[in-house]
Parts: sequence; C-alpha cells; structure tokens
Amino acid sequence: MEENILNPKELFNELVVEEEGFRHLNNPADGIKPITKKYLGIPEKVEQLGNKFYFSDGDAKVEIIVVNEEIMRVRLAPHGVFLDDFSYAVPVLKNKPVPVTLTEDEKEFRLSTQIINCHVRKADFFISFSDKDDVITSADATPMHWEENAQFGGYYVYCTKECHPDENFFGLGDKPTELNLRGKRLSNWNTDAYSFNWNQDPLYRSIPFYITVNEGIAHGIFFDNTYKAHFDFGSEDRTKTSFWADGGELQYYYIHGPHMMDVVKSYHLLTGTHPMPPLWALGYHQCRWSYYPEAKLRMVAKGFRENKIPCDALYLDIDYMDGYRCFTWNRRYFPDPRKMIKELADSGFKTVVIIDPGIRVDDNYPIFKEGKEKRYFCRRSDDYFMEGHVWPGRCQFPDFTNPEVREWWGTLFDELVEMGVAGVWNDMNEPAVFGSGTFPDDVRHQYDGYRGSHRKAHNVYGMQMVRATYEGIRNIKKNKRPFTITRAGYSGVQRYASVWTGDNVASWEHLQLGNIQLQRLSVSGIPFCGTDIGGFSGEPDGELFTRWIQAGTFAPFMRAHSAGDTKEREPWSFGEPYTSINRKFIELRYRLLPYLYSAFWEHHRYGFPILRPVVMQEQSVLKNHFRQDEFTFGDKILICPVLRPGQKSRKVYLPKGQWYNFWTNEVVSGGDEVEVLTPLETIPVFIKAGAVIPEYPVMQYVNEKPIEEVKLNIYHSDYEANSFLFEDHGESFAYEQDIYSEKKFVVNGDTSSLVMNHSMEGLYTPRYDGYLFNVIGLPFVPAKVSIDGKDIEFAVNSDKILEFRHTKSFKHLEITN
Ligand code: GLC
Repeated sequence: MEENILNPKELFNELVVEEEGFRHLNNPADGIKPITKKYLGIPEKVEQLGNKFYFSDGDAKVEIIVVNEEIMRVRLAPHGVFLDDFSYAVPVLKNKPVPVTLTEDEKEFRLSTQIINCHVRKADFFISFSDKDDVITSADATPMHWEENAQFGGYYVYCTKECHPDENFFGLGDKPTELNLRGKRLSNWNTDAYSFNWNQDPLYRSIPFYITVNEGIAHGIFFDNTYKAHFDFGSEDRTKTSFWADGGELQYYYIHGPHMMDVVKSYHLLTGTHPMPPLWALGYHQCRWSYYPEAKLRMVAKGFRENKIPCDALYLDIDYMDGYRCFTWNRRYFPDPRKMIKELADSGFKTVVIIDPGIRVDDNYPIFKEGKEKRYFCRRSDDYFMEGHVWPGRCQFPDFTNPEVREWWGTLFDELVEMGVAGVWNDMNEPAVFGSGTFPDDVRHQYDGYRGSHRKAHNVYGMQMVRATYEGIRNIKKNKRPFTITRAGYSGVQRYASVWTGDNVASWEHLQLGNIQLQRLSVSGIPFCGTDIGGFSGEPDGELFTRWIQAGTFAPFMRAHSAGDTKEREPWSFGEPYTSINRKFIELRYRLLPYLYSAFWEHHRYGFPILRPVVMQEQSVLKNHFRQDEFTFGDKILICPVLRPGQKSRKVYLPKGQWYNFWTNEVVSGGDEVEVLTPLETIPVFIKAGAVIPEYPVMQYVNEKPIEEVKLNIYHSDYEANSFLFEDHGESFAYEQDIYSEKKFVVNGDTSSLVMNHSMEGLYTPRYDGYLFNVIGLPFVPAKVSIDGKDIEFAVNSDKILEFRHTKSFKHLEITN
C-alpha cells in the first residue's frame, strides 16, 4: 500500500531535532519527491509492557494502552517513534491496572478485559473493538494511515471506521446543526463566528469527542489531537466514518458504553469534571454590551429589585476598561469601582467583568511593559512579536501555553478580586484577531515545554487562558470558588469554566439552535453551558424573549446578553404580559436551585451531564436518535421548550414510565408523543413519577434571607425511585473535605400507600429546621401519615395535594388510606 515514501529512518532523524516533530523535508524543490499516502502494513509482532501493547509492521508502531475495563487508547507512530505523551485534555492518564489477556490465533491478536476486546487483524492491521459477547462495536474500514504534507512538512493522520446503516452520532461540542450528526462532515478550529448560521462550521470550540449508537449499543471516540481536525459521519461514503487531523499524532480513545451515559462518564474520567460552582452562579445573570456609565448599571440593578425579578449577577463588558486595556478601569464611566461593587453587593448583585487576551501595545501601560520585558507575548517564527488588532487597537497576546505566563496572568486578577469582582468572563480567546481571523500558523508556542506552532496550539489557546484565569483567582481567593466563563475551549475546559455559545442572533431559528447546542455541549463534557438569552445581535420581540427566558430557566447557565446597538433587553423591557411571565420563570429557577445544585453535584462527583437529550434516556429506540427538542434537566424534569412563534400547543415525546404535568399535576404515560397546550404562560414541563423535587423559597438573590424551610415535592409512583438533595456552604471548597450533605429519598407506592425512606451522608448540616411536604398524585384518599412510627397532622388542599410539615431528621415516611 506504500506510495512514494521517504526512508522513514531518515525522516525520523529530522523529526527528533524539530521541536514540533516536523520539518519541511519533502519540498519538491529540494529534489525530494513529495510523499503521498501510507497505510499501516501487516502487524509482525506484539510486545507487552504492563498494560501497554506495541504492535509493529516493521516501520510504523501502534501502541494500545488498556486504560481500564472500558477504555483503550490507540496511538500511531508512522516511523516508529511516538511523540511525547502530553495532553491538555488528559493531564494525567489515570489508568487502572486491570487484568488483560493477550491471545493470538492465525487471524488476529486479541487484548481482552472483562468488558471489552480489542482485535488487531493480522492480514491488514485493521483494529476493531467488541463487547464481552463478542459483538463488534467499532471496526476499522481501512488501516490507520497518514500523509506527509509537502506544504508544511508534517503528517495528516487518518482513521476510518465502518459506519452502519442505522448508526447515529452525537457530541462534538457546539456544532450548530441537528443533534444527530449522521451524514455531516465537520471540522474543529476555534473560530470567532459573529451571528453564526445554522450549519456554519467551525465555531468557537473544539471538542474532538463523539458518541455513536448502533443497534442500541453506544461507544465513544475521543480523538485527542489539538490540530485542525475533521470528522466525517457517513457523509462522503455512507458506509464509513472518518476522523483526521492536519498534523500531530493519531491518538484516540475507544470508550465503551453500552449506554451513552457510561460513555460520558468515562470521558469525564479522562478529562475531568466541572468543579462545584458557587451557588449564586446558578441564579439569573444579566449582561449587555455595555452597561455604562455607573448610573446605567445602578439603574439596571434597581430595575431588578423594583420589579421583584430575582438576579444574582450583573456584567461589565469591554467599556468598563480604559481604552479596552485589560485590568484597568475607565474612571470617567466608573469613578469609584470599589464603592460601586460594594454597594451592588450590598443589594445582592455580584459583579462579573470581561477580559480579552489582546494586550494593547503601549509602553505606558504597565501590563504591556511587563509582558514585553519578560517576553510573555507570542512570537512569530522569525522571533518578532505577533501583533494583531482587536478592541484596544494594536495588540500583543500572552502565550497562555507557557506555565510562567499563566501564573503571571493569574496574579493580574489580584486587584479586581480584592475590589470585590466576583466573576471573570473570558472572551475573544479563539484567539480572535480582526481582519485575519486568528494568529498566523507560524506563531510559536511554549506548549508546556512541548513547543510547537500555532497549528498545534490554536485550539487550546482559549482553554489555557481561562485556566490561567481560574487558577489565578483560585490562588487569590484561597478557599472560595472562582466563577469563570469562556467562549473558546478544548476538551477538558470544563475543569476551569462555564461556557456560552457566543454571538447568536435574536431569531426563532437561533432559539432552536441554542436548544440543540446546549444538549450537544452537555453530552460533549461541557455541563455548565448557556446561550445569550434573547439573542446577541438583532431585536427579539416580547414573545421570543419570553420563550427564551422560559427555555433558559432550564439551561445550566442562565444569562441574558445583547449587543450594544440593540434596544434595552432586561426582563421587564417588553412590558406586560411578558414581564410577569419572565418573573414567574426566573422565580421558578430560584425555587429549583437545590434541584439544579444537586444535579451539578451528580455531574461533579459522578460525571453525569446536567442536560440529557431523550436519546440518552432511550437509546435503543431509533426514533429517539432524531428527537432534539425534548431533554431532561437533571434526571427528573423533562422540558420541551416552545421554539416557534404563536404556538398554542405542541407535541412532546415522553420516555417510558409515568410523568406528571408540572403545571396541572395530571399523570401522563410515557413511551409516546403527547399533545401539550403551550399558552405563552407555560412551556411543557414534566416530572418523573417517584421524584422528590426540593424547592427553596423564592428570593431576589441567593442568600438574601436565611432559608427556614425547604419544600419537598413528592410525586407518587408505583415503582421505586431514588432522588438526591445535595447541599453545602455554596461558596467554599469544603466539599472536597466531605463537608456537604447528600440526602437520598427512596419513594415507592401502590394504589393504597406511599412510602419514603430518607438517609444522609456527609458532614454538613443545613441551617433550616424542617420540610414542608407536598405529596402529589396520591391515587387514594389519605387517612394516615406517619413519620418514624408517629402520626402526623396533615391537610389536603384544593389541588388535592397532601401537605404536612416535619423536621428534617427522619428516616421513614408512610402514607396510607
Ligand atoms: C464578542 C462577545 C460578546 C461581547 C463583545 C464585546 O462579540 O462574543 O459577548 O459582548 O465581544 O466584548
């Protein structure tokens, strides 16, 4: 299969001297023939080194690491030498020594754990994976291959796998297209995409991780390669799925399911989860480009309190700075920022400020001077500093892939944090440059000692910027949780920041798109995500804005944001009936905070996503592979936003089981679509039978008042169901020392009873004394309520909800007829 290949050893000698692993070797002008494609040949032998296995065709080598029972990592070294094993996505490969057996017959080598097998075919080096029943889940359609590129002297690396007729694809970050990626061909190259369109590709983030579901079995592929990467899900050839990159190493993880949830959990095991956010960060955030001067910001703050619409965070966009110089203040607009931030905080508002990576070239600007003196800014291959125009004009850009630069950047937040700034919004970090789009390819990066060009560092630049921000603020605040948000990112960015989907548009199409993007980000390892509610550019009318607030109530990150040339965009800007409906939904968000916070804990601790598309609930139902409106928020609440104007009712698919219409408490059987009324006042919200949904009292901001009582909404079911309630201080890292409380509620019922058991773990005791119980959907007239054997007084209200109170310490509740 070889065509026109250089002597690999010769090439290797060149490879080791060049920092990035490549050189302009095969320039035809040098008299060397251009090189085209080369495929792996025939595997000659296998060597084992613990849980690492090395196969070779004589020249090329393939390494397969058994990471654990469900995950194997495959790497290809075209000329027998692996690049340094370094990854920003997987800082430490936590491989577990699990028993692996290596067997061989005339057809194949086979590596087996208790759960999966990896087959290396002797005839042609095809690599495939199967489950413990020997069902093949992933199989090469060609041997791994590569191409040496005459233009820049590197490799293109390719992997092509079989694609089955009913195989469907999910994940890959924030692609603005259908949830199911079957038939799509997409690329990863972080791009500032103002007012992006449906199907525009690529956008701001690069998450080279996808999940496939075929015949009810799911597995994931994580192609950990930071270069411009490409994915083809049966687009060019319906029978093939390919992923390839314009450089770097062919390195991917096979992650076994069999459920999509298992794949996402395992992906988080590799790349980490989001730390617990401060509780206030789950409240409502109000942003606009730009709230200035100070009087304007104060008016917005007043508007929230006067209109009694809860809000926890107000944002300052670029105009708070002096000439857009990062870490400075425009004193004309904000004469005394410290005082302003303090007074806003006194009325319950956290201040979040924007930071961009472009540092204005200005010798009178201390940050530029210091960065220049210490050579912290990125340089071109000829050693000149990389320059480009962004908001401040002529700028240079810190090399965030240099740990020393990250540390320096982190310290720059000292003053802002000390002034009381509560969060930092990292923007333009694709990196974006006006005119050229981004940096030229030849810009050099330190890349944590594994130096390389911008081709290698581009997709991780934004993630390393927000990492520097997060780690810096964490160092300054010590035991207080930072809050950071980022536009750009690469796999693993969830360890450092929440993410918003960038510059969307005030249109119904974008509301639909955002609904898909958030589900996709969630299954791609980015749990804390949101869209610019209302649309960044353009003008929504009251109906669109309200429908967006309603959908945003169930987004993990809830922030309204708009461009500076648009009309006022606060939740009361559209008058009635919109203001009241917006208030009702934002209040609902605050009521559900303990539920959302618990879902966040499930993410942080166990790797579950917060939003879960319907396909994740029932992946063996093929029709569900094409549903993209409905999703669950945590695992108990199903949402189906209204995504079209004037819609009076809409179809909603409910997964199998019993569901309660949240607004009417009517019980509906799942497993089919139901028609649901959608007056402007509501969107379809359903609660799973057996759920216990905790509610906090409505407050205008988190911690406005001490919580005296928590409401527990218990939904009767005729099967056993578990619910959790996680609580802690909400601001510190004490949860890392087990200072939290995780309560478990196990509900079971039948036609004449409901039983609930309650247990608790952790070292934190919430301050409130007791619960107000609301029991919904009892199929009998209750005659007796007892807690731990003692009878309790109760009442049944006009909505047939059974109500009673009790202290929070109890073990067993019984309701009988
Ligand atoms: C970018 C951001 C947007 C911000 C604007 C000004 O377009 O995506 O959110 O408001 O820059 O800073």
